[in-house]
Amino acid sequence: MKAGVLGSGMVGQAISARLAELGHDVMIGTRDPNKLNEWHSAHQDIKIGSFAGAAAHGEIIFNATNGAGSLEALRMAGESNLNGKVLVDISEPLDFSNGMPPSLFVSNTDSLGEQIQRAFPNVRVVKTLNTITANVMVYPQRIANGDHQVFISGNDAGAKAQVVDILKSFGWLHILDLGDLTTARATEMYIAIWLRLWGAVGTGMFNIKIMK
Ligand SMILES: NC(=O)c1ccc[n+]([C@@H]2O[C@H](COP(=O)([O-])OP(=O)(O)OC[C@H]3O[C@@H](n4cnc5c(N)ncnc54)[C@H](OP(=O)(O)O)[C@@H]3O)[C@@H](O)[C@H]2O)c1
Repeated sequence: MKAGVLGSGMVGQAISARLAELGHDVMIGTRDPNKLNEWHSAHQDIKIGSFAGAAAHGEIIFNATNGAGSLEALRMAGESNLNGKVLVDISEPLDFSNGMPPSLFVSNTDSLGEQIQRAFPNVRVVKTLNTITANVMVYPQRIANGDHQVFISGNDAGAKAQVVDILKSFGWLHILDLGDLTTARATEMYIAIWLRLWGAVGTGMFNIKIMK
């Protein structure tokens, strides 16, 4: 599979490295390729390009850009490079303007995932992986042998099925489909609990398990 990963931070790096480890042909996109020089020396099988280059390269695209810049990053990626493709949206609408803990610049009755879907109506947006830290996203077995949940939200059943296959290849055992993209409001707002748990637990290497 050819994958385009938009974002050079810890999430973009983790997703890119894991996809390459699984044998996919990956290009990571950034506005500043030089910032990845050191990382690239340890990941020479991964191509580095612009947001547009990575989006054109990918049959499937991952949005691992800062939430406040995601719409801008996707505009730079170019609608024509994104149209018809699955966009795995991992972003969070975090607003750090008043310090820690951050608030959300969209919530309750809307979500960043939905804003992205409205701005790019021909892109098949699937929100997932935004409720755990980068390392857990790609190596779920590192916690409780993978006995915990990841959520998935999206309007396109076929797109969600493709993303479920990718999540399974990462090692996810429990993938909970919450429904259409409006359910991303809930997983984006979950960050409020996640941050408090992080403070209380003392590590980001945790997740939740749904018990009935
Ligand atoms: N860190 C985690 O464990 C975690 C967990 C769950 C969800 N998330 C979400 O995943 C996303 C990525 O997180 P991260 O920690 O890896 O990195 P980040 O620091 O939140 O984002 C870095 C990326 O955002 C791009 N970016 C920032 N402002 C931009 C703008 N105005 N226009 C275009 N691009 C812009 C940067 O572009 P350049 O490459 O050009 O600098 C870079 O590629 C975020 O939305 C975050 O909330 C993160």
